[in-house]
Amino acid sequence: MNWIVTSTGSCENLHEIQLERPTIARSLGESAESYRLYRFLTDLEDILLKFSCDRDRIAAISPLMRLLLTDSYWLQVPEEAADPELGWAVQTLYDEPFFDLTVQLVTWLPGTKSEIHNHATWGVIAMISGSEKNTLWQRSPTLEYPDRIISVGEKVISDGEIIGFLPEAIHQIEALGDRPTISLNLYGKTDYDARFEFDPINHTAVIY
Ligand SMILES: [Fe+2]
Repeated sequence: MNWIVTSTGSCENLHEIQLERPTIARSLGESAESYRLYRFLTDLEDILLKFSCDRDRIAAISPLMRLLLTDSYWLQVPEEAADPELGWAVQTLYDEPFFDLTVQLVTWLPGTKSEIHNHATWGVIAMISGSEKNTLWQRSPTLEYPDRIISVGEKVISDGEIIGFLPEAIHQIEALGDRPTISLNLYGKTDYDARFEFDPINHTAVIY
């Protein structure tokens, strides 16, 4: 199943946009088994050029994420185990200067929780192994506390599920189960002035 989290923290069904596979792959006579990372990246660039709306981008990227997951067994085994102190590890698969796309393989130890944060860019997360609980938040400012947030729900994402986030979506991750989770994470161009870590007790938002 595929999901998208909006700027108000609502988690909705994602209606995918199916695009034709690039002609070059077909002309080489390749089968779906050979959907390699570099082709995925090329397709991603085509999508980013074709769509300017974040929701459309996520909807078009989602089926390609699934194809990559299905065909690329090397994704199942991150090179780096999660750091026992941090509780996670990030393996960057692609990050190029002056091209606004980051592709990461991320692993979390069971029970580890992230800070409450937004990403200030679109994001697509595909769960490869394990389950993660997303606690979802919404901004609910008052005169006294302009950065106040309130919890609006939870969404557990498990193996094979894909979830997209719009730039202002606020979430907190908790790795569930008894084994490390593995996910493939994609992000667009981060607006670092709009990426915050939130404190729901003191009602603060700090740039990170
Ligand atoms: Fe996140």
